[in-house]
Amino acid sequence: MKLTPQPFLAQQVTDKVYWVGAVDWSLQDFHGYRTERGSTYNAFLILADKITLVDTVKKAMLPEMLARIASLIDPAEIDYIVSHHAEMDHSGCLPELIDLAKPEKVFASTNGVKALEQHFHLGTPLTAVENGGKIDLGNMTLTCVETRMIHWPDSMISFLDKEGVLFAQDAFGMHLATSELFADQQPRHILQWELEKYYANIVLPYSTFVAKALAGLRALQLPIKVIAPDHGPLYRTAEDIGWVLEQYDRMVAQTPTKKAVVIFDSMWGSTELMARVVAEGLKHAGVSVKVLSMHGAARSDVITELLNAGALVVGSCTMNNEIFPTMADVLTYVRGLKPANLIGGIFGSFGWSQNAFKALHDYLTSMKVELVAEPVKVQFVPTKDDLMKCFALGETIGTALCARCK
Ligand code: FEO
Repeated sequence: MKLTPQPFLAQQVTDKVYWVGAVDWSLQDFHGYRTERGSTYNAFLILADKITLVDTVKKAMLPEMLARIASLIDPAEIDYIVSHHAEMDHSGCLPELIDLAKPEKVFASTNGVKALEQHFHLGTPLTAVENGGKIDLGNMTLTCVETRMIHWPDSMISFLDKEGVLFAQDAFGMHLATSELFADQQPRHILQWELEKYYANIVLPYSTFVAKALAGLRALQLPIKVIAPDHGPLYRTAEDIGWVLEQYDRMVAQTPTKKAVVIFDSMWGSTELMARVVAEGLKHAGVSVKVLSMHGAARSDVITELLNAGALVVGSCTMNNEIFPTMADVLTYVRGLKPANLIGGIFGSFGWSQNAFKALHDYLTSMKVELVAEPVKVQFVPTKDDLMKCFALGETIGTALCARCK
């Protein structure tokens, strides 16, 4: 077929692998995770004897992916599609794509076949790949390894032997829209923050699975030349591949550091003032502090800050006999992500009901945060004595944290 000019173009990754994904510059919220820098949905075309598409993109971005594919081949020439993960940012356009390209086979893990059928009710038989199974592309082979719970029960990764590409789906990814494809073309501090943010908001609850997967990956001793996740930049240098693996080792461990995160919300400023003094006490004990007012701070930033912290201190006023709603929101979100190895404390102001303190206590204890000081509770507006108790709360937590981090 004679190729026609396309508004979106494929980008070469290795000799026979091309990026044909979509850049979502506008994405600001990924199911509750604030994504100020947008994201990418990475899909890859392997120009093997059997032309193979690795993953797809969000449904609305099908035209962009199709144009990138059409800049190389007629999409009808696709022989195989391999779906590594059924979540709809990677599978959303699969039904339309199957109708259009009519591939010979669509592969997924055993759980992936079930999940894709439950999402799309395709009526087209999908081919299950066993853990460790190989897909013969003619002149090269794709070996598939299940990575259950990284990120979903269906998830798998695959390694393309001849090109040395590890297709990693959500693992090693980040939400970062860029015009450059590779990590070595990005500022390191942005990669660092966005990698941590993605891990904290998406991968953290599954850290035990990640630890096993990392050990398994190392044991295979694959000659990896490129790690190609489904979000954000690709890692193509030995330095970047080593860097991202080291970062994952560190994030899995969640070793406490001398850093505390103080989160609060306030109606008339009393709890806010208390938060500032708690922070002062922590600082005086030798701890670095991040204070986040939930009157505007994103819950996804709170869990990111907590990823490399050792203490969580929470403050709320009571409103209508309840914890302040923004605090219930953030603590519900954080609890679901299962941060580990934290100590902490509680503070806040109230008018006549102290129910917020019970709610804060229940959240922290159910998160296994070790409470190392008595809560500071102030009726209406803190006095200087009350503020000194807040200082002591911060100092006690800070001293305990420093002792842990020795
Ligand atoms: Fe990028 Fe779990 O989807």
